[in-house]
Amino acid sequence: MTLEFYRVVHLIGVFLTIMSLSGLCVFASVGNKEEKPMWPRLLTALHGIGLVVVLVAGFGLLAKMKVDWPWPTFVWIKFVVWLVMGGIVVLIKRAPRLALPLWWISLALASAAAWAAKMHPGGL
Ligand code: HEM
Repeated sequence: MTLEFYRVVHLIGVFLTIMSLSGLCVFASVGNKEEKPMWPRLLTALHGIGLVVVLVAGFGLLAKMKVDWPWPTFVWIKFVVWLVMGGIVVLIKRAPRLALPLWWISLALASAAAWAAKMHPGGL
């Protein structure tokens, strides 16, 4: 598997994760679970799959880039973003009134991860 293969798979995982988060926020805000139970179930499953794909391809990228432990700062930033993106689903479901701020927070998290991936704060 090439570096570029892992990069594409990593990005597909990212798109799956943020599209699911966005959908869960909108559904929490305007959706009706009784009428449309399939959507939250599907989006929650896709969110989980997205996170796994991001993680596996992300570590594939690290291996190809020969980035070893201890991780450089940019990897820690992305790992924390990944953890928060995992936990945020619970908040969306427990506090649907926060759906809009959580939507913006998800966008900010993804932007921080992209920034860290391109700028490598603290070096490689
Ligand atoms: C454990 C979690 C993660 C790991 C180990 C990881 C690892 C990586 C690595 C090694 C790169 C390549 C950096 C380079 O080219 O110098 C990368 C690129 C990237 N990552 Fe992650 N990442 C993780 C989570 C995330 C998350 C949660 C997001 C966004 C939601 C994200 C978005 C991106 C983006 C946009 C790129 C740039 C791809 C490109 O160069 O075209 N990553 N990631």
